Amino acid sequence: MTTQKIGVAVLGIGSMGGGHVQAFRSSPWVERVVGYEPTAERAKERGQELGIPATTDLESLLHNPQIHLITIASPNDTHCELTLRALRAGKSVLCEKPMGVSLAETQLMLAAERETGRFLQIGFECRYSKLYQMVKDWIGAGLIGQPLNSHCDYLCSEFLLRDSWRSKSPSGLIAEKLCHYLDLPRWWFEQPVVELYSQAAPNFVSYFNYSDNHNILYRFANGATSSLNFVMATAETFHGDPLRDMLDQQWDDGHRLVYLLYGTKGAIETDVFRRRIRRWEFTDKPDKLHSKIVETVTFPSSADELWFHNAPGQNIRISQLVAEGCLPELTATDSYESMKMVFAAELSEREHRIVKLNELD
Ligand SMILES: NC(=O)c1ccc[n+]([C@@H]2O[C@H](COP(=O)([O-])OP(=O)(O)OC[C@H]3O[C@@H](n4cnc5c(N)ncnc54)[C@H](O)[C@@H]3O)[C@@H](O)[C@H]2O)c1
Repeated sequence: MTTQKIGVAVLGIGSMGGGHVQAFRSSPWVERVVGYEPTAERAKERGQELGIPATTDLESLLHNPQIHLITIASPNDTHCELTLRALRAGKSVLCEKPMGVSLAETQLMLAAERETGRFLQIGFECRYSKLYQMVKDWIGAGLIGQPLNSHCDYLCSEFLLRDSWRSKSPSGLIAEKLCHYLDLPRWWFEQPVVELYSQAAPNFVSYFNYSDNHNILYRFANGATSSLNFVMATAETFHGDPLRDMLDQQWDDGHRLVYLLYGTKGAIETDVFRRRIRRWEFTDKPDKLHSKIVETVTFPSSADELWFHNAPGQNIRISQLVAEGCLPELTATDSYESMKMVFAAELSEREHRIVKLNELD
């Protein structure tokens, strides 16, 4: 049986949308890629830069039988409405994170997926990154025993810019950035999160509509705990997305994106800015618990995208799933659980209290 190639429409062909276009153009399961922008000027400019047809007529894309997959790479507060329209038009949808900017929006997106029965996958692309898949594989192979604790430190320079939609967005950085880093431990630990507490100090960045720092602490159903500490502002200023290149310089100027996971038999550290993943083994000896680094894997700068920013790999895989009529690899229900952590953290900071995740159901 030959698989029919699909047509893809990318809604929002800015920075991330441009990456989507390139990934789909390289996919063997895709035969056409078109773009959508709300204004004619922007559609023309970006269509020409990317070398694709780009339109301002969303309805025509939604009703075009040659378009099978709609991907949404527009500002966060448009994700819900565009997803609902695309699913209800019978399209498969890949929507960039976050899955909505409020709990109500996330629930609407989940309800639309259930009501239409269509394909909906949220762009939690870290799940396709080799660095984080290796953590999953090492835990799955029992190499650290049962995971019981994880810490994530994410420290970076301000890279959203004073006058961008991001710095003025009604939703904050927990939804915009940290949803990835709350989603990963849920995936690794394979446990539901039951409660969460978060705090934010006053801002370093005066022009954000939201906090630029968060200390989030949460507990899983089996008693395991995790924390995520984030500060945007402290590292040396970088004029671009600091996760895309220049890691060699940045690892020592204050940038950090490190996970430490502790299990009953060992530990794992992932370190994006050092391009490294390491593993410790614990041995219970008569004098004390001994710990030894037993495995270190590094990757070259040429493989950065594959190792920790594998949106292209995710998109190509999704085009295959849609072309072959398969279900999403990452379900909307699962992404909803990570988004509940986002909104629980926002609620916890507003009300200065521990939030039980089932309060949000
Ligand atoms: N997965 C990741 O790691 C990752 C990384 C970066 C961005 N993103 C997500 O991708 C999305 C876009 O981010 P970006 O950095 O490309 O922003 P961007 O500002 O570069 O691009 C957004 C584009 O959307 C267009 N747009 C505005 N309103 C629109 C609407 N109503 N419908 C369609 N298009 C519209 C803008 O004109 C612009 O071209 C965001 O949701 C962001 O969170 C994800």
